[in-house]
Amino acid sequence: MAATPAGQHAHWSSRFAFILAAVGSAVGLGNLWRFPFQTGDNGGSAFVLIYIGCVALFALPVLMAEIAIGRHAQQSAISSTRKMAQEAGRSANWAIVGWVCTAGGFLILTTYSVIAGQVLAYSASGFYGGFSQPDGANLFYRGEFTQLAWHAGFMIITVLIVARGLKGGIEQVATFLMPLFFVMLIGLTIYSLATGAASEAIAYLFTPDFSAVTGQTFVAALGQAFFSVSVASAIMITYGSYLSKDTNIGSSSILIASADTLVALIAGLMIFPIVFMVGIDPAAGLGLIFTALPAVFADMPAGNIIGGAFFALAFIAAITSSISLLEGTVAFVEEHSDFSRPTAAWLLGFFAFMIGAGAVWSSDFGGLFVDWLSGSFLLPLGGLLVAVFAGWVIPKSLMREEMSHASNGLFAFFHFCVKFVVPPAIGFILFLGLDAKFNGGAIGAMLGLG
Ligand code: PHE
Repeated sequence: MAATPAGQHAHWSSRFAFILAAVGSAVGLGNLWRFPFQTGDNGGSAFVLIYIGCVALFALPVLMAEIAIGRHAQQSAISSTRKMAQEAGRSANWAIVGWVCTAGGFLILTTYSVIAGQVLAYSASGFYGGFSQPDGANLFYRGEFTQLAWHAGFMIITVLIVARGLKGGIEQVATFLMPLFFVMLIGLTIYSLATGAASEAIAYLFTPDFSAVTGQTFVAALGQAFFSVSVASAIMITYGSYLSKDTNIGSSSILIASADTLVALIAGLMIFPIVFMVGIDPAAGLGLIFTALPAVFADMPAGNIIGGAFFALAFIAAITSSISLLEGTVAFVEEHSDFSRPTAAWLLGFFAFMIGAGAVWSSDFGGLFVDWLSGSFLLPLGGLLVAVFAGWVIPKSLMREEMSHASNGLFAFFHFCVKFVVPPAIGFILFLGLDAKFNGGAIGAMLGLG
């Protein structure tokens, strides 16, 4: 037990820095890569509506709970949940909440970096003028060795930032890159709406059509909501632990969740006009932004620059998320070992790289399995545990004390959700997901949700 005695625990330099870092964590490939293809795979507008419902009813309350837990205990996710449970006179084994979340966050990082590496390679290709050459998007991304090299490069950048610590690394990067991200996002979206099939995209995203909804739509929407808002993965507990007591947790959480949702919707408005303009199937799946978009950029005036800029935008979003993913585990290791922060960051970055590399090598099994394990299993389970912890294990008065700035109405909403809404709903959705994975969806079909 060395490194961070209680008094020296780092803190954000301002509320603004915290918000930018937290929004930076939330806004990422989840918004620019995962949200569009999940929307496409799940039938468009109905998914979007269910997704927004999942953010408001499930992800937002869990987000508030996590920030409050971290701020109260001022430690990493695992230590914070243990400490708070003990304080409430409950078993120290409740640290399992922190363990599940930390494992989920770390596993996400392993494959996140692979995709982010591809984003980086495509951005380079665009600026190099590659999109207008045959198969040019893959100019710098051919074969497993190159994939691993970009994956390694992205991981090294992540480690270098996290090694510099909270103020010198994470905060600086977020306060510099997030404003840049928003300017680029708005610029590219206006361009896309003006030149692409805008009305078709708007109809696709916002005209509700519930005919395509099944039980799996809910599984997908929930997983996407948790992934996108960065909850259930130790990050928001850790970022909350760097907060001072005078920050309003309720309003900050609403701001973070709304900004993230807004960016997802804007990203939809940026990507789908282009997809529809050239008649690509929106359900093209995982590869939507990697196969569909470069093909379009190839035929567009200034397509290389626009395409390079699009992938640069995605890279900025990804790096401010990956540093948070690594930070969740680094904070824990730093707290519980004699390793310095840089050593912890390099070691964990290396492990994450190796697991991600394994996923690349065994692409059919490994990649999908790691993604399923983190996205469809550990995240819902972690969210369920956080809600049970905040709703049932920790006394209401203690949660209220930590969220003293929130209005009575907001607190009542929060507490009702973590106590009565999130646990049964997520329990059921988790069950449907497991049923689909291991049982061919038989029980879901029996319930009329197939
Ligand atoms: N929210 C990030 C994104 O949308 C990914 C992430 C998930 C980051 C979980 C931290 C924790 O890309």
